[in-house]
Amino acid sequence: MSNPSLLILPGDGIGPEVMAEVRKIIDWFSAKRDLQFDVSEDLVGGAAYDKHGVPLADETMAKAQEVDAVLLGAVGGPKYDDLDFSVKPERGLLRLRKEMDLYSNLRPAQCFDALADFSSLKKDVVAGLDIMIVRELTSGVYFGEPRGIFEEGNERVGINTQRYTESEIERVARSAFELAMRRNKKLCSMEKANVMESGILWREVVTRVGKDYPEVELSHMYADNGAMQLVRAPKQFDVILTDNLFGDILSDCAAMLTGSLGMLPSASLGAPMANGRPKALYEPVHGSAPDIAGQGKANPIACILSFAMALRYSFDQGAEADRLEAAIEKVLADGVRTADLLAEEGVQPVSTSEMGDAIVAALDASL
Ligand code: NAI
Ligand code: MG
Repeated sequence: MSNPSLLILPGDGIGPEVMAEVRKIIDWFSAKRDLQFDVSEDLVGGAAYDKHGVPLADETMAKAQEVDAVLLGAVGGPKYDDLDFSVKPERGLLRLRKEMDLYSNLRPAQCFDALADFSSLKKDVVAGLDIMIVRELTSGVYFGEPRGIFEEGNERVGINTQRYTESEIERVARSAFELAMRRNKKLCSMEKANVMESGILWREVVTRVGKDYPEVELSHMYADNGAMQLVRAPKQFDVILTDNLFGDILSDCAAMLTGSLGMLPSASLGAPMANGRPKALYEPVHGSAPDIAGQGKANPIACILSFAMALRYSFDQGAEADRLEAAIEKVLADGVRTADLLAEEGVQPVSTSEMGDAIVAALDASL
């Protein structure tokens, strides 16, 4: 059998800097765990625009469709701000998401004990927190028709349409239930079935899909209450399933329970491929951070955790993903901090590369 394939797209700004640290991790798994990947690397975003005049070349798109997983750094930066909308760096990322049809967006909110002080919430409310938000990513109010700004009488009206078909709800629900089966078999679905017909249908379809997963404890919650519960007692949740709009807001809210943007990974999954694993794009939540790019200050952990998600969801290496996350936990517990994680005064931050080396050393120690 051939090795699992991984396409790396470092992108712009701190993207290449954090990706260099992921490379060290990949090399470690290859040397020490005999886990070999066919890794290829290509351009996306501004870097692709500079070379090809487009933010994602057709050949790169074709490659992304073939590999087992894509790992992306970040795109964009001031150099590209004045470009035409059609070739902006972000369009490269949007094209990937759209053409790979990545309808299920996984955003974990995981609180490493060593960083619990970093949360805006009390330490005991967030310590040990480990939840996963599954957000529908390719439909809903951001895409529904009709949309636009129209003349109506003597004033204008702005219109967007929340629209979900049963099959769109079903496929993302299935992805969330599959995830719940791999985790703690607990799923809470959030909509506003009290005031939205799309929410009524959502609840009905999720309940129906749930019949195929009798082991999963399913609950439903109105999304506004969900927002309150997330900041009141987030540990009551395990997997949260929600639509595109509510998911956008709830996932950002949940993410901040845990502290820094430099710590947040994500996965976007699509339909299962021939090997049974979903099409997948993994990327840190953060952007290209032009304010710190090129200074060796970026925290590589969000990107490394994104690779851990790839190990778990694309490469069937859950135990190795656990090992990697435990190594990160250990490094943080030892007090190793990039500048974005500095709470106390007097602690010297480490560089991007030193953080990567510390994680590799912790991996060594795990053997
Ligand atoms: P950003 O996420 O790049 O940065 C926000 C703040 O967080 C900055 O102060 C930055 O220094 C800090 N930060 C982000 N990641 C960090 C890390 N790993 N370690 C330490 N500090 C980190 O968001 P911003 O500034 O709004 O956008 C900058 C550029 O990135 C823009 O061109 C934007 O369009 C693009 N962007 C790209 C995204 C992507 O590729 N998925 C997502 C968000 C923004
Ligand atoms: Mg957002």
